[in-house]
Amino acid sequence: MQDLTFRVQRYLPGKDSKPYMQEFTVPMRQGLTVLDGLIYIKENLDNTLSFRSSCRMGICGSCGMLINNFPMLACHTPVEELNTDTITVKSLPNFPIIRDLVADLDPLFEKHRSIDPYIVMAETGDLNKLTAQFLQSGEELQSYLQFAYCVKCGLCMAACPTVSTDEFFLGPQPLCQGYRYCTDRRDTGAKQRFEKADSGHGVWLCHLAGACSEACPKGVDPALAIQLLKRAMVFDSLRLRKKPEPATPAQPIAESKPKIEVPEFTVKQ
Ligand code: SF4
Ligand code: SF4
Ligand code: FES
Repeated sequence: MQDLTFRVQRYLPGKDSKPYMQEFTVPMRQGLTVLDGLIYIKENLDNTLSFRSSCRMGICGSCGMLINNFPMLACHTPVEELNTDTITVKSLPNFPIIRDLVADLDPLFEKHRSIDPYIVMAETGDLNKLTAQFLQSGEELQSYLQFAYCVKCGLCMAACPTVSTDEFFLGPQPLCQGYRYCTDRRDTGAKQRFEKADSGHGVWLCHLAGACSEACPKGVDPALAIQLLKRAMVFDSLRLRKKPEPATPAQPIAESKPKIEVPEFTVKQ
């Protein structure tokens, strides 16, 4: 099989004034992924090459990088699918570079944390006593399921043109996760998230280009979530619709029955 040319971004802070590209020759084999190619380089050609990876199966979200100008997971990208024998690999745009292909994802995690990405409960007594279940119907699960598949890889943030022009824009991943928890019937934190999403760097800066959804390797549609979040915020401010009362306190285990009820706050596909 034909050899591949890997053009790889190199950058060592304190030594290099700016990133530069270095070429390596990697033998092609069937099923080779971009991550496999980088591992080959590190093990056989240059052990100083730095990149991040862990699961090698598209789950941990750590191997995001810019591959032939598109944000992708290196472990999830077979070279055959790129239809070229020259592979250019850079660190994710819209993030500072730590070294070589390692992007600093701290800005993503800080923004993610800022939107309260967890179920907020006004009443926690039942949780502390552990005597109850907080049942979800199939319809309730469907209202947020696809958004819950996010692995926090940052590809959507790297693809977003608004993030590239406004470093303070909350961005697709945090806003999507904000909506995921707002639409969860067990949650009572929508108001506090709406306030954060309504800031000058919040939801209204998204102009629905959809690059974030195109980049997502997990089938999440952050652009859809952002539009649904906008709708929920408008409804809330106009008081046209109200989120139903949270499903707390929960039914005692012995008496609880599955409750099939579609919340008003549903995602319509
Ligand atoms: S749809 Fe919004 S969040 Fe997604 S890439 Fe476009 S501007 Fe960014
Ligand atoms: S929404 Fe998709 S692209 Fe964005 S961080 Fe989550 S998994 Fe990655
Ligand atoms: S190594 Fe875990 S997603 Fe690629």
